[in-house]
Amino acid sequence: MKTVSVINYKGGVGKTTLVANIAANLATEGYKVLCIDLDPQTNLTFSFITVDNWQKKYQKSKTIKKWYDAFLDDESDFNISDLIITPERVNKDITGTGKVDLICSHLGLINIDLELATKLGGASPRQSRKNYLRVYSRLKNGLNNMEESPYDFVLIDCPPNFNIVTRNALVASDAYMIPAKPDYLSTLGIDQLQKHVDELIKDYNMYVSDTVEGSDEDEWDLLGPEMIGVVFTMLFIRSNAPISAQQAFINQVKRLSIPTFDTMIRENKTIYADAPQYGVPVVTQSVSGKTYIDVKSELKNLTNEFLSKM
Ligand SMILES: Nc1ncnc2c1ncn2[C@@H]1O[C@H](COP(=O)(O)OP(=O)(O)O)[C@@H](O)[C@H]1O
Ligand SMILES: [Mg+2]
Repeated sequence: MKTVSVINYKGGVGKTTLVANIAANLATEGYKVLCIDLDPQTNLTFSFITVDNWQKKYQKSKTIKKWYDAFLDDESDFNISDLIITPERVNKDITGTGKVDLICSHLGLINIDLELATKLGGASPRQSRKNYLRVYSRLKNGLNNMEESPYDFVLIDCPPNFNIVTRNALVASDAYMIPAKPDYLSTLGIDQLQKHVDELIKDYNMYVSDTVEGSDEDEWDLLGPEMIGVVFTMLFIRSNAPISAQQAFINQVKRLSIPTFDTMIRENKTIYADAPQYGVPVVTQSVSGKTYIDVKSELKNLTNEFLSKM
């Protein structure tokens, strides 16, 4: 099982769209995929199920917020598998052994960060270490403890920040990827994000290594999630190439020696706008037309490149 976070501090860069489409493509190829919506904006959740269904069936008992609540209350911890649902609409279009499962998000997840922060610290260095590792590895442990680990891939749609829940995703991940629009602010953020991830890993590993000799403290694993690349999204293509303003930012990222995906995703409002409303990502829609075919094949190439990096 490989866990991959899809992350960028900026909203509206295509994180959720990529998670939904890569997941559906992987499932079409026969892989079993679990998507986790960690963004309180719940966009991934509502790309797969209707708001009505969520409210009636899942809001109370089947969201990732519920699982963090259990941790915060201490009394009622449960296995993360209990939260998994299989969204009907997208899976109807997937034949074969592959599937897309989902752990839903919840608007209230936004408050969980503040509460998790209160669990950090401690009266002694040993207590602080234990609390730090417990809080930051909550999701990592949850995924490791899943009954029989039935997935090939876990894709995590991260919120556009670097709060504790986002850090939970990175600590749980074998790899992460960064969707970005080729513009000034998005490219500025990439460098910063990488620095912050590196700092998180350094701190976490420092706590892991900082065992007190001869004590019976728990064993923790060192981390090293790999940055598999920036995916440029929402490109304006003219004569088969990105317009020059965007190309300049793409070149700039490459000059910083930041890994990038060769596949880039073009802008197409018509095709991308409607998809979530029907509970099916672009790649599993059966629509004809040359533009559709081009857009789908881009997403397929991206998925193949993703697989080659795993
Ligand atoms: N390649 C694209 N071309 C046009 N619109 C897109 C594209 N990718 C995503 N969108 C649209 O842009 C908006 C933001 O995308 P989204 O995936 O939700 O970003 P994020 O998760 O980073 O906030 C959504 O309305 C989505 O439908
Ligand atoms: Mg999103």
